[in-house]
Amino acid sequence: MKATIAVLSGDGIGPEVTSQAILVLQKIASKYGHEFTFNEAPMGGIAIDQFGDACPESTVKTCEQSDAILLGAVGGPKWSDPSAAVRPEQGLLKVRKHFELFANLRPVKTYAALNQHVPLRPEFLEGVDMVFVRELTGGLYFGPRQDQGDGDTAYDTEIYTVAEVERVAHVAFRAAQSRRKKVTSVDKANVMASSRLWRRTVTKVHEDYPDVELEHVLADACTMYLITRPASFDVILASNMFGDLLSDEASVLGGSLGMSPSASLGAGTFGLYEPIHGSAPDIAGQGKANPTGTILSSAMLLRYTLGLETEAKAIEAAIDATLASGARTADIVTRGDAYISTTEYTQTVLSNL
Ligand code: IPM
Ligand code: MN
Repeated sequence: MKATIAVLSGDGIGPEVTSQAILVLQKIASKYGHEFTFNEAPMGGIAIDQFGDACPESTVKTCEQSDAILLGAVGGPKWSDPSAAVRPEQGLLKVRKHFELFANLRPVKTYAALNQHVPLRPEFLEGVDMVFVRELTGGLYFGPRQDQGDGDTAYDTEIYTVAEVERVAHVAFRAAQSRRKKVTSVDKANVMASSRLWRRTVTKVHEDYPDVELEHVLADACTMYLITRPASFDVILASNMFGDLLSDEASVLGGSLGMSPSASLGAGTFGLYEPIHGSAPDIAGQGKANPTGTILSSAMLLRYTLGLETEAKAIEAAIDATLASGARTADIVTRGDAYISTTEYTQTVLSNL
């Protein structure tokens, strides 16, 4: 199979992790007889420096000419002045919106080898295997806002339409059908009108999926249940903002934020694949980044955009074997213990492939 992948490495540790995922994809290509072309394009702070735009037209073009996007991370202190006219994050939001990637899949699983790094007792981690379906192109992130800079009022608006909730709810219920058949829908229907529309719409969509159990949970309670009964979740369906917050919390169960991959999908097979972690400017350039989230994102790319399930599973198995063999990046060692560099870790993954 031939495929073209746009690579938006971005800022901070972004280039360090995307380069490692490319090595893994290249190994997959040679092992299974595929041909992957990688087209790099600037995005985020680096694009602001070069073009004054976090996602210039040329980058959008590169993405349009590709089957999928592999993204590292964007942002950093250099571009985080609150009064700045352009922000790196705008580039990411623009790409999500431009390609209508409304469904963000964020799987969370635990690794027996890493349980000791999770601040929960091991018995709570048994059976944890969940996936977030986060709405990605609506809600608070994209509603009308006012930001007067130094004025004394600012606001953001949560707006959802029935159509927006329906399409992402279908993704969640379909995902549940091929898993443990349970959807937990998160909202604040006790306070927010948009949440009441959300709950009513999800309840209606559920009628098409009688084989799936639906549970509604308030967002504040959900933060607690993720700690007290994490194994009870299968698919968690949430708005853009709630999904952002809850998926960072849940990623801790996997041992480190650096472990978690994501896929952002629309109506077709085109997708954006990125780790859920940020650009971690404090550790950039030191070989301390954990490439697992990005490598597992590339496995999701193979699965969802290219339909290469065997290859995706091979990568996931290589990560399992790597962790089981004791290989650890800096984020998953207890203070003072030895760790290997980002590139050494990837070499272990490659040899396990
Ligand atoms: C994420 C990130 C982004 C988000 C930021 C960088 C805009 O936190 O992908 O979760 O809030 O969606
Ligand atoms: Mn986030």
